[in-house]
Amino acid sequence: MIQWEGPETVACFIAEPIMNHAWHGCTPPPGYLERLRQICDRHQVTLIYDEIVTGFGRTGSMFAAQTYGVSPDILCMGKGMSSGYAPLAGIAIQEEIANGLLGPC
Ligand SMILES: Cc1ncc(COP(=O)(O)O)c(C=O)c1O
Repeated sequence: MIQWEGPETVACFIAEPIMNHAWHGCTPPPGYLERLRQICDRHQVTLIYDEIVTGFGRTGSMFAAQTYGVSPDILCMGKGMSSGYAPLAGIAIQEEIANGLLGPC
């Protein structure tokens, strides 16, 4: 789809490392996230993980990114962040992208 649309028109790819909405609990096939990372790198597409459900220990590590050993550029987190006691969410951003957004600190 990136090639079809033209890489210059694709800002990001958003993925749940473990799919929860369309297909509950579907884990990625071996090599899937590694390949996804390669494709995003090749086309300079920002890889975003939605770890709203998988974050905070639900995959055995703090984040599924660690469980599967493939890091995104931006990671979205919520739910388990406050154990559901408060409506709290956040994002973690690679330093290079953060500097682009905020300017050097
Ligand atoms: C995986 C995932 N991403 C995103 C969301 C959306 O969160 P919100 O409704 O707080 O925007 C949810 C909500 O359940 C979710 O489960």
